[in-house]
Amino acid sequence: MGRFWPLLLVALAAAASTTAAFLGSARWWLAAGPALALTCVGAGDLVQRRHSVRRNHPLTGRLGRHAAGPRLRWGAVREPRADARDGAEFLVPSLRPVEPAEEPPVVRVGGPGCSQPYDMALLNVSAMSFGALSARAVLALGRGAALGRFAQDTGEGGLSEHHLRGGGDLVWEIGTGYFGCRADDGGLDWREFADKAALPEVKCVSLKLSQGAAPGMGAVLPGVKVSADVARERRVPEGVDVVSPPAHRMFSTPRELLLFVARLREAAGGKPIGIKLCVGARREFLAVCRAMLAEGLAPDFVVVDGAEGGTGAAPSGSAGRLGMPLTLGLVTVHNALVGVGLRDRVRIGASGGVATGWDVVTRLVQGADYTNAARAMMLAVGCVRAGRCHTGHCPAGVATQDPLRTRGLHVADKARQVERYQRETVREAVRIMAAMGVREPGGLTPAHLVRRVAPGSERSYADLYEWLAPGELLAGPPPSWESDWKAADPDAFG
Ligand SMILES: Cc1cc2nc3c(=O)[nH]c(=O)nc-3n(C[C@H](O)[C@H](O)[C@H](O)COP(=O)(O)O)c2cc1C
Repeated sequence: MGRFWPLLLVALAAAASTTAAFLGSARWWLAAGPALALTCVGAGDLVQRRHSVRRNHPLTGRLGRHAAGPRLRWGAVREPRADARDGAEFLVPSLRPVEPAEEPPVVRVGGPGCSQPYDMALLNVSAMSFGALSARAVLALGRGAALGRFAQDTGEGGLSEHHLRGGGDLVWEIGTGYFGCRADDGGLDWREFADKAALPEVKCVSLKLSQGAAPGMGAVLPGVKVSADVARERRVPEGVDVVSPPAHRMFSTPRELLLFVARLREAAGGKPIGIKLCVGARREFLAVCRAMLAEGLAPDFVVVDGAEGGTGAAPSGSAGRLGMPLTLGLVTVHNALVGVGLRDRVRIGASGGVATGWDVVTRLVQGADYTNAARAMMLAVGCVRAGRCHTGHCPAGVATQDPLRTRGLHVADKARQVERYQRETVREAVRIMAAMGVREPGGLTPAHLVRRVAPGSERSYADLYEWLAPGELLAGPPPSWESDWKAADPDAFG
């Protein structure tokens, strides 16, 4: 309530000085004029729908860094950190550019074991749970996804009613807590899983092994964000921290993981099943590939999350330092799948700092088939990067469960913003590809991306990384892959 006090005080001052001006000296108009003007501005803030922070903080929302316009905020997500981390990079334009594709490209997700494949957009809403995000933010993202025909990942907090009300295509994420389909023993309730997976809104299921912000650690949702609604969805006590186990109960080896994926696919009526991970040791992912070969099974997609990934729940001291950054993770997963001859049936999604068309094309060049964005989508629903996600005090109503704060987020307005952001970003990606002489993502090659490795010295990704030929690991791995390939065990991750 404290945030409405400035407006209330100004309104009281306006009323008092106007009364004094009428009843006493006309000099009171000198005070009444500005006070009335400020009251009108504050009332305007309160009822307008475009700026959540001003709606939540009438008058004071205009001050400080939260007053930054969308342009500045979009600029902020294009983190110059990417350049510092990776070296300056540029995409290679062609002297024979082509006309941009008229329809935005989609990628078909669903291998041979899949009877209900899904056409995934080039840019989708990355996993973010109800709990980490407010109900209105989840709803606005879902409505935006429905308008733009792209997918929204539910995040590991379960398939909430707010996700379903959004009406967009859903990727239902299942984490180590199995929220929304947890059995009494803490494992997966197969019947509940099958019932929910059968919903028409659920297009794919994603099994989260780890995420870039905290790989190897269970996700944390601080108690302050565990409202009655969130507690009901997750079936946990209200107001108490929710800490997911670091590892899955349902499998403990790569082979068991693949068997679990196959069983999930069957229970989901043949919908695509994928895994999400932040890659640590290359050998571990090769162990998963060995299990795929041994069992003749594969996930339909692998989402590679970079160590630079975010989280809306807890502050993370490890972000960026535990696990592979997205570039290396993507190149590793792409090469491993090519090397074992399974790249054709497994799609690769990429998440970690994707915000612009340039980011999308860059990730496609590095091995992805499609991309997901979390924090950029949060900006689209009004996030002002206040850095208070874990406190429950988000001033924009995006990452909080406080009803007085979420009221500022106008769902219809933000849904249009989400749709527009995704459409324009994909359009930009398509235009960039056309400038590179490429009409379809399949035409991109590692030679299309160049990095400055030292002043005056540039190398393309074709030279910077080793790119395996289809089936090369089976035919005889190159020396640089040999020890990892030999050590990879389908019956042990580590
Ligand atoms: C608010 C918030 C909530 C998130 N919740 C989840 C989650 O439930 N499951 C998950 O796999 N990743 C979660 N993530 C990670 C994102 O899905 C994504 O992988 C990561 O933030 C990198 O993408 P970005 O750079 O576009 O944010 C969350 C991220 C944010 C910012």
